[in-house]
Amino acid sequence: MFDQLRLGMHFVLELAARRYEYDRVPEPDLVMDNPENVREYRDAGLATGNGSSVYLYNLLLLSGTIKPNSTVVDLACGPANLLVELAIMHPEAEFIGVDLSTEMLACAAELKANAGVRNVRFVCGDITKLDMFADRSADIVMSTLSIHHLPENSMLAKCFAEIARIVRPGGTVHLMDFASLKLEATARYFVHERTKGLGSFLTRDYENSLRAAFRLEDFAALLPVLRAAVPETQLRKTFGVPFMVALTSINRPEPDAQRRRALSTYWSSMQPAQRADFSAMRLFFNLGGLRTPHPKSTPV
Ligand SMILES: C[S@@+](CC[C@H](N)C(=O)[O-])C[C@H]1O[C@@H](n2cnc3c(N)ncnc32)[C@H](O)[C@@H]1O
Repeated sequence: MFDQLRLGMHFVLELAARRYEYDRVPEPDLVMDNPENVREYRDAGLATGNGSSVYLYNLLLLSGTIKPNSTVVDLACGPANLLVELAIMHPEAEFIGVDLSTEMLACAAELKANAGVRNVRFVCGDITKLDMFADRSADIVMSTLSIHHLPENSMLAKCFAEIARIVRPGGTVHLMDFASLKLEATARYFVHERTKGLGSFLTRDYENSLRAAFRLEDFAALLPVLRAAVPETQLRKTFGVPFMVALTSINRPEPDAQRRRALSTYWSSMQPAQRADFSAMRLFFNLGGLRTPHPKSTPV
């Protein structure tokens, strides 16, 4: 009861806030290459890990969109938790993960080998300079939890211009990330509430991510760049307090029966706290206009 009151109070104060109380602070580790941290990050992102909710949410959105021959590019793929799950679910599509951290890519290669998938490859590269991809060569360009690693707005602009260049006409853009909160107190509350049970690195990482998140206005200003390539792209945000945003052309995805079974299996292996987190995220995005089915909503 007390927890809900506190949540409600922060929600109302943040909603009423007119201006940002703090400036953006770029990530101290723009490229994540500390071996121990990379492994801790990878483990949290497994289905059984304590950060899996966001991956299930993105699996739901993307698994209803990917077609048998799609070429899917994941920008700043990190240890590729999401990409490898997608590759398992879509064996006839091709997946390419890009990251600047060789340590992350080594971890991703390990995950790929353990999963025994062949339809994923990794490229060491910068997401603001995607020379390795030809114009209009990707069916889907995606990214999760990474955009805030770009040091400044001009890099965000370069990254979006590159996305617009490599996505094919009629293709899909799907970028999900944190958005800046307005109040110090809300940021502190989020860090306190959402990092329970996480180790010190992941707690610090989450706090750094919130501080480094771009503002809604930054995303809105660059939305036309993505729309020029994929006109359906929308800026979706969690209802009320935009703690997460998606620049995405996906809405109401409908995964087929095979993919639903895989999503349901993923859901079953998640910890209860992660399922609760997923449900909250889905609810707040649904209220914000981005619709997804529940992974258990239809018989499998
Ligand atoms: C927080 S991790 C997110 C990884 C993954 N997308 C996920 O959802 O778990 C951010 C990743 O961005 C990578 N990164 C940061 N700046 C980059 C850049 N300019 N180009 C490519 N990768 C970058 C980091 O090395 C790190 O792997």
